Amino acid sequence: PTPVVIDCDPGVDDAVALLLALASPDLDVRGVTTVAGNVSLTDVNRNAAHVLDLAGAPADLPLVSGLAGPIARTSRIRDEPMHGAGGLGGLVPDSPPRPLTPGHAVDWLAERALESPGELTLVAIGPLSNVAAMLARHPEAGPALREIVVMGGAAFAQGNVTPAAEFNFHADPEAARYVLESGLPVRIVGLDVTRAALYPLTEAEYLATLPGTAGIAGDLLRAYAQRYLDRFGVPAVPVHDALAVAAVSHPDLVGWEEGTASVECSGELTRGALVADLRTPDRTRHVRVGRTVDADAFSALLTEGIARHAHP
Ligand code: BDR
Ligand code: CA
Repeated sequence: PTPVVIDCDPGVDDAVALLLALASPDLDVRGVTTVAGNVSLTDVNRNAAHVLDLAGAPADLPLVSGLAGPIARTSRIRDEPMHGAGGLGGLVPDSPPRPLTPGHAVDWLAERALESPGELTLVAIGPLSNVAAMLARHPEAGPALREIVVMGGAAFAQGNVTPAAEFNFHADPEAARYVLESGLPVRIVGLDVTRAALYPLTEAEYLATLPGTAGIAGDLLRAYAQRYLDRFGVPAVPVHDALAVAAVSHPDLVGWEEGTASVECSGELTRGALVADLRTPDRTRHVRVGRTVDADAFSALLTEGIARHAHP
């Protein structure tokens, strides 16, 4: 299995992504780090701990808290309209969830990278604040990663916060720019592909009938899909972050194009926009951008992965 660490801001699709990763025989989840994004860091930490409990993850699986906001400017971006109260549609644990692991995500991520040079894949499914701060504070750590797989941006599609910008990049554009310009191997799973791989409401309804954590995840997905239906009139929903995880376990799900990429940080109308340059063959082409996706294969994989949590 591919060793991964997951930097996240749960968030419904983050929660589903974590459950998918923890159930995957193709992934070895070595730890989870958190960053403010969909909700505050406090809420994100509680949600991540709750999801690890629901997944029955080992008690010693590291869960390390990270940055409470973007690296440069302040931003008050939250997305409770889509993710529901508290970030998980009102789902709160009956008892206090597992404690956090001591330490800071920015240092912990670097330590894990340096521990096994060339092996670790960092899956970043929230704002890139922790990842950028880690690369800046520990310059030797980035090159020790195998790759960084990012959910963020919309290179060819419209954004979801503004016409130009997707949520994770809009929440911390300076961080996203730093990561994309780092020269490290980065794969981008943006709205270009996540919106082309909608998960049917009917699949969520099926999962909701299952026992245990699979049924809880099904309820979450069903409510998430219902909010999407109410807003956009489509009975299927992008489960953005889960596609990023699936792109690590099943890289052929997505069709990739190589190039370079950056993020607009100063544009009045375009702050947070992903700008991918897939034209020039003579530059260091270290970024791969997802352009196409096998939507049916992704839905099947997601249903199968979440259904593995169907224990009473
Ligand atoms: C991204 O923003 C968040 O709302 C989701 O969790 C996902 O990471 C999609 O734009
Ligand atoms: Ca997220």
